[in-house]
Amino acid sequence: MTPSRILVIYAHPAPRRSRANKPLARALASLPGVAMHDLYWHYPDFDIDVRIEQAAVEAAELIVFQFPVQWYATPSLLKEWLDVVLEMGWAYGPGGTALRGKHLMVLATTGGRAHSYSQAGTHGYTFDMFLLPLQRTAALCGMQWEPPHVLHDADDASPEAIDAHIAQVRAALQPWLPDDADFPA
Ligand SMILES: Cc1cc2nc3c(=O)[nH]c(=O)nc-3n(C[C@H](O)[C@H](O)[C@H](O)COP(=O)(O)O)c2cc1C
Repeated sequence: MTPSRILVIYAHPAPRRSRANKPLARALASLPGVAMHDLYWHYPDFDIDVRIEQAAVEAAELIVFQFPVQWYATPSLLKEWLDVVLEMGWAYGPGGTALRGKHLMVLATTGGRAHSYSQAGTHGYTFDMFLLPLQRTAALCGMQWEPPHVLHDADDASPEAIDAHIAQVRAALQPWLPDDADFPA
């Protein structure tokens, strides 16, 4: 069996109510070469097993964070994951080279519409600004930041819009997928 080059860290606090992330997570999970890791399923009490998480990250080339945006940030369990897994001496600092050369890609969904994420819009800033903490974390750990894929207006997105988003994500993952990977319908 080919080892998974892509590790998807999925963080949705209410996955059964999800419209947008659920079909995306399902599609990603069925791709060859993708290891799907559902944080809220594994750690409902937030008691993250740091060694297991670090081993999973070490085995991957592309780390994907998939989450619905909550209060302009990641859901809290993904923030906790960052806080406890990215240890000094492993992820950064002296001897902290485990993530160096790996790639990080964000797959986020928002309730806000695309135009509301602008200087003149409700949220006052472009969406990129809210990803800066993750982008800087990647840089500090020597990771390459991949262009994020964001589905805005996710609560009201049509099935066609969700399908188009899934297809766009699949295309972005192509460089890390096995040559013969087929995307499920
Ligand atoms: C507690 C909470 C906070 C949220 N904060 C934001 C926010 O800051 N910006 C935004 O655009 N949407 C926000 N939303 C909307 C979610 O991002 C949206 O419902 C989700 O991305 C839809 O994806 P899903 O169908 O997979 O759940 C929030 C939702 C919840 C429940």
